[in-house]
Amino acid sequence: MNILFDKATSTFRLDTKSSSYLFQIVKGGYLCHLYWGGHIEDTSMVGISRLYAEAYDPADGDMHERPYPMRFIPQEFACDGITDFRISAVRIEAPDGTTATDFRYQKHEIIAGKMPIDGLPATYAEPDEAMTLKIWMRDTETDMEAILWYTVFEAYDAITRHVTLTNHGEHPTTVKRLYSACTDFAGSDFDILYLYGAWATEANVGRIPVPKSVFTVQSNRGISSHEHNPFLALCAKGADENKGDVYGFSFVYSGSFCAQVEADTQSLTRVIMGFNPDNFSWRLEPGEEISSPEVVMVHSSEGLTNMSQTYHSLYRNQLCRGKWKYQRRPVLINSWEPFLFDFNKEKLLRLARESADVGVELFVLDDGWFGERNSATTSLGDWYVNQEKIGGTLSELANEIRAMGLKFGLWFEPEMISKNSNLYRAHPDWCLHSGGRPRSELRNQLVLDFSRPEVVDYIIDAVSKVLESAPIDYVKWDMNRSLSEVGSTSLPRERQGEVYHRYIIGLYRAMETLTSRFPDILFEGCSGGGGRFDPGILYYMPQFWGSDNTDAMDRLNIHYGETLVYPLSSLSAHVSAVPNLQVNRTTPLSSRFHAALTGSFGYELDICKLTDQEKEQIREQIATYKQYQDLLMNGDYYRLISPFEGNGSAWIVVSKDKREALAGYFKVLSKRWHRRSLRLKGLDDTLRYRQQGTDYRYYGSTLMNAGIPLPKLWGDFLSCLFHLKAE
Ligand code: DGJ
Repeated sequence: MNILFDKATSTFRLDTKSSSYLFQIVKGGYLCHLYWGGHIEDTSMVGISRLYAEAYDPADGDMHERPYPMRFIPQEFACDGITDFRISAVRIEAPDGTTATDFRYQKHEIIAGKMPIDGLPATYAEPDEAMTLKIWMRDTETDMEAILWYTVFEAYDAITRHVTLTNHGEHPTTVKRLYSACTDFAGSDFDILYLYGAWATEANVGRIPVPKSVFTVQSNRGISSHEHNPFLALCAKGADENKGDVYGFSFVYSGSFCAQVEADTQSLTRVIMGFNPDNFSWRLEPGEEISSPEVVMVHSSEGLTNMSQTYHSLYRNQLCRGKWKYQRRPVLINSWEPFLFDFNKEKLLRLARESADVGVELFVLDDGWFGERNSATTSLGDWYVNQEKIGGTLSELANEIRAMGLKFGLWFEPEMISKNSNLYRAHPDWCLHSGGRPRSELRNQLVLDFSRPEVVDYIIDAVSKVLESAPIDYVKWDMNRSLSEVGSTSLPRERQGEVYHRYIIGLYRAMETLTSRFPDILFEGCSGGGGRFDPGILYYMPQFWGSDNTDAMDRLNIHYGETLVYPLSSLSAHVSAVPNLQVNRTTPLSSRFHAALTGSFGYELDICKLTDQEKEQIREQIATYKQYQDLLMNGDYYRLISPFEGNGSAWIVVSKDKREALAGYFKVLSKRWHRRSLRLKGLDDTLRYRQQGTDYRYYGSTLMNAGIPLPKLWGDFLSCLFHLKAE
């Protein structure tokens, strides 16, 4: 039993593999947070709770007055306007327009397994894998009910949380704010770790001390965004990759979000995560309900690596779905960087032939195959094949490419509409817009109003027709802009605040329908690179294009940040041409290969333009990759050197049985001084490993304490690999 309720003290105790989470019902029926951290034995923490409040005694009745200001209590579901004064988890506009809310405990239930969240992505579990605690809370003034859901995963140090609100009153109410998780920590001696960036420079790692104020990580763009990934971690002072308490919060959602950390004057730190209140309001008619997306909370008392490994295995095993979840992903070639929009059948076939010859397994036709799309200014929404450009039907092209022994893949950007398109001419009201205001184009395109079911149905149908028309093995689902002028002609005035979330509900319906209608297709998410690399998308698509920046050195940083939360199997990475299209840097082919290994692997360059020697090198790379592929997909990943802290980067992936490992070391700029050895991690102290390709043998303890000797990398942007096998 990993969820316990101690009746004597009204305390809930949630135990994961090695951590405990406790809270108590206190006077008035509020939920007072007591503890989250490494495993503890006590369930009754009366001493600690007395610091804050007295335990609730059911004999008192549950609705008596609050005997204390709420601001002294660490809370699980902080309400608005009733003397807490910190950021609240919920705010509801009552029929009279007032917004104070006062939810109090009613009852609870503990059940085996985990319930899905209607229409939203979420982690899943069998009855023997997790337990769920449901707590009913009620605000009597509005007759609103809140169900707080906590799921505890048996095998991981993870707890998920979300909230369902139901209007049991006789009048409509409006939910103005709804956070999925609210957790108060004792003290404020923490750092906040978060991932920030921009297009082509995603997932930079930021770390700042908790300020005596409010710190916000958010997106108000309608997508989870390049700017801030929906993740943050609270780290104990001194916590690093290997040690210290770390508390991760990751949001399973692809739209606008908000995560805030507030340190107050009572020496409590609140972390809160959920819908971005700036982009959200939701009207509930009597009897209606809304559920928030889930937050996945992970605790590690052994630093960041351990936290990341928990997210990696949880998201791989309990979030990703479908045929490709554990399957080897084909090595691909993508037409985007080689050709952009400038291709014809001959060019495509030549690239496919050369690719097949060096061992590529999947040919992906990227943007430019439909409507009159010869530049980014036109045709989004016109999902019919430009037969003149591709020299026949899609089926003919796909079959010719498949006859070379390759699989065939196709790019779509289903959520978009170009002004210059037949779809826009037929349905100018189908894009998001606000009355008569100018419709802001970004990358020359507008966003379809996915809050409208008929628009989503049309797109599902249009994409399905293409997918049925040819043998297609892979789809890249792109999304290249943020939302603006967010309004929908289909909703009344009082529901316009719902458009952001209704858009995401429409998106998830489209993804669910298409991925289940075409279960054999490997779907890859993309949003101008990593603009929507979030757990929500991974529920539908097991991999995501890590960044539009394919430069090997920049990718070191991007991968370092993305692997804080996301497993290597979900991160797509390609070897591209030099000088690099995004940063104009020239790096060796071998470094580009090594950098792309920490992802679902492929190429994005015109192989026809390479020398015979380079083609041979690629042939060897693909053969080498296939040798490591299972290890890279299924092993445990450790960050060894941070590219944010110096002149290089390193990682190691170790098989679950610790008998095999692959390490990568990268030196960015050449210096007179060079590192002599690299200390590895994750190996077995007592096993003796042979460095493949050499006669060197070392015990795991030696490799982890003394390190493996590094060759002198002489020049810029160089790298090397170490493949180890236990004897
Ligand atoms: C942005 C993507 O990230 C690129 O890989 C490419 O697919 C282009 N869009 C195509 O327009």
